[in-house]
Amino acid sequence: MSLLEKDQRYILNVYNRIPLEIDYCKGSYIYDTNGNKYLDMFSGISVTNLGHSQQGIVDKIIEQSKKYTHLSNYFVSPPVINLAKMLVENTFASKVFFTNSGAESIEAAIKCARKFGKSYNNNKTKILSAINSFHGRTMGGLSITGQHKYQDAFSPLLPNVDYFKFNDIEDFENKVDNTVCAVFLEIIQGEGGIREVSSNFISKLQELSKRYNFLIVVDEIQTGIGRTGDFLASDKFGLKPHMTTLAKSIGGGLPLGALLIDQSIENVLTTGDHGSTFGGNPVCCAAGEYLVNKVLEEDFKAEIKEKSDYIINEIKKIQNKFPNIIKDIRGRGLMIGIDVSDFSHQIKDLAFKKQLLLNVTNNTVIRLLPPLNISNTDIDKFLNIFEDILLQINGKAIDSY
Ligand SMILES: Cc1ncc(COP(=O)(O)O)c(C=O)c1O
Repeated sequence: MSLLEKDQRYILNVYNRIPLEIDYCKGSYIYDTNGNKYLDMFSGISVTNLGHSQQGIVDKIIEQSKKYTHLSNYFVSPPVINLAKMLVENTFASKVFFTNSGAESIEAAIKCARKFGKSYNNNKTKILSAINSFHGRTMGGLSITGQHKYQDAFSPLLPNVDYFKFNDIEDFENKVDNTVCAVFLEIIQGEGGIREVSSNFISKLQELSKRYNFLIVVDEIQTGIGRTGDFLASDKFGLKPHMTTLAKSIGGGLPLGALLIDQSIENVLTTGDHGSTFGGNPVCCAAGEYLVNKVLEEDFKAEIKEKSDYIINEIKKIQNKFPNIIKDIRGRGLMIGIDVSDFSHQIKDLAFKKQLLLNVTNNTVIRLLPPLNISNTDIDKFLNIFEDILLQINGKAIDSY
């Protein structure tokens, strides 16, 4: 049996696997057991943001593993505190709660929001989130994910959750009242097709939060830690939320998540209210220290923005040549969506044959999430292959006409 056949046999069948047996990965490349190398343009869905097996991260992992790999949250640990300190000193937060994943960061935020609401009265428990949002697959995360396709098989979900149309101020105003304890929002909807919130919506959100006294919870699990060229994507709007959820890249490729908490609500969750056996694992936090340090460098953030401008400009040029295929280009920093309507899966499959790994989200969108330190040569390589593929598709369309 091949590895892929064994996977089918032994692993629960909830994932669509890419038919590749991987030997090792380095930087922006994945090497298969036949010696082929594939350019990785989605970094494990924005996890390996400094590329695969980045030496600085590997060194931190080894160094910490030699001291200890786990202590339990009965003990304090330097890498855990160092990482929290960096997050506090560089964001709105005054406190951090560490988790192991995005969904767990969301769960912690939901609990904090509900307890905050209940401190006013037993009715203030409603949570609002956007239609087309994605906040994870645990029952709490699923409940506030505004997409029926993920939810319907698992109902009943968490009570007292309602959904507003993304960026629709009128609809949002109609949904808000005194019973709302929190509004959850992605700055750029990732699974929802790379759609960014408008600054008008953010202004209204802040205004209504003050008037109705609800918490603003920003989900930066995909957009956070440099992905958009800012440390947090909400920095662009000068938005100071009450909580921000993080995960994915924060552990430098190891499983780690975090909930950033504003001072005004830092005493809502107290001893015994919440916890996690693995949350804030010292090895993951040591790896995270390296990653966060790098992303905080001003030059590095500027480089991300330069690369982003270059890629988006080049894709626009390609769009001018193939307006029948590329319908829209969206996103910010190195989180870029190319809406190619029905061509998405064909493009992904052709790319795979050319040893380029692409990710499709929301059915029609090629989602680019390359390593933040991808080289200019590899960017050009991607652009050339991508254009070749569109040429090939167009040629076929013309042939079959
Ligand atoms: C915005 C957002 N929130 C939450 C999650 C869930 O994170 P995890 O898969 O680590 O539980 C994701 C995962 O893709 C995400 O993109």
